[in-house]
Order: sequence, then C-alpha cells, then structure tokens
Amino acid sequence: MYARFFVLLFLYLYEKMDIKMIIEIKEIEYDSPEYKDEVELRDKILREPLGLNFTAEQLKSEENEYHIGAYLSGKLVGCLLLKPVDSKTIKMRQVAVDGTYQAKGIGKKLVEYSERLALEKNFDKIILNARDTAVKFYLKLGYRIEGEMFIEVEIPHYRMSKKLF
Ligand SMILES: CC(C)(COP(=O)(O)OP(=O)(O)OC[C@H]1O[C@@H](n2cnc3c(N)ncnc32)[C@H](O)[C@@H]1OP(=O)(O)O)[C@@H](O)C(=O)NCCC(=O)NCCS
Repeated sequence: MYARFFVLLFLYLYEKMDIKMIIEIKEIEYDSPEYKDEVELRDKILREPLGLNFTAEQLKSEENEYHIGAYLSGKLVGCLLLKPVDSKTIKMRQVAVDGTYQAKGIGKKLVEYSERLALEKNFDKIILNARDTAVKFYLKLGYRIEGEMFIEVEIPHYRMSKKLF
C-alpha cells in the first residue's frame, strides 16, 4: 500500500521535474562510442527525414570539429558541432534534439554551452545556416539574419550570426 503510494508520488514528481535541471552537456570525442550515438541521432533528426545519409567522407571531415552532446540519465538526447572557420569565427552546425525532448530547453542549453566554449577557445563570432523552421529559435538566442534565403539540402535556409561580446 505505502510502496504503491511512493511509486506513484515518484512518478508524479519525475513527470513534473524540470528537464533543464538534469540535462548534462559535455564534449564528445570524435570516433568514440558516444560519437557513434551522435551520428545516429543526427541521422534520425536531420538526414533521414530528407532521405539523405552521411557519407564516409563527410564524417571523416568532422575530425577537427568540436562535438557537443546533451545527456539525460546517460542517454544522448541532443547534439551540435562547432567547426572553426578562421582564427576568430566558428560555425555552428548539425544542431539536433531528439523529437521526444524538443521544446524543453535542451537546444538552448546546447547553444549556450557552445558559446562559452567558443569564447574559451578565443573565437568571437558564431555563424550558422539556419533552416527556416529553426530561425525563431536562433533569433531568441540573440542570432541575427544576414542576407537572403538560400537552398541547402533542398530546404530554405538563412545565414545567421552572433558576436560573442
Ligand atoms: C530547433 C531545435 C534544435 C531547438 O531545440 P529545442 O530543444 O527544441 O528548443 P528549446 O526548447 O531549447 O527552445 C528555446 C526557445 O526557442 C523556442 N523555439 C524552439 N524551437 C522553435 C521553433 N522551431 N520555432 C519557434 N520557436 C522555437 C522555444 O519556444 C524556446 O523559447 P522560450 O525560451 O521563450 O521558452 C530542435 O527543435 C530540433 O532539433 N529541431 C529539428 C532539427 C532542426 O531543425 N535543427 C536545426 C537545424 S538549423
């Protein structure tokens, strides 16, 4: 009787818990088991819906990028990549949050972590190509649209950027 009450109480509190508080953001090492999870997540969220796949060549070119993952109880639920462009500019790309966990603040946490990391590495500007469906997400985080819409992977995109100070 008591056990049942506590199980129900736990489930209620777990449901109400703010997921942002328990998400862990950390760097992922290229070619590690965590990296395999990351590619799987990006494939599911960003590539499969478009009928596309990553090529071996594309994945090889990611070796010198920063890979950042969002973990919930040890499970990868979001990720993004940072690719140095020049000594001051870094490109944010492949931003993806698992469907079940979208709109819970995880994307925002990933971007904020990345901005801190970019500053630590002495970059002062982040650029990105935003899908039109994600533009409002980046606007809320202080990114600005630069220029006209263009097509990438067959969908409309906007170049956006943010100065980090
Ligand atoms: C876009 C994406 C990365 C955002 O991550 P998320 O975890 O769902 O977003 P968050 O919950 O952190 O949202 C942060 C804020 O942006 C807003 N927001 C997020 N996505 C939005 C969207 N598509 N349109 C409008 N607002 C959006 C949220 O409402 C929230 O606002 P608030 O701070 O006022 O509450 C995620 O939804 C995703 O992976 N989408 C599919 C893949 C994709 O489009 N990736 C981007 C490629 S450029």
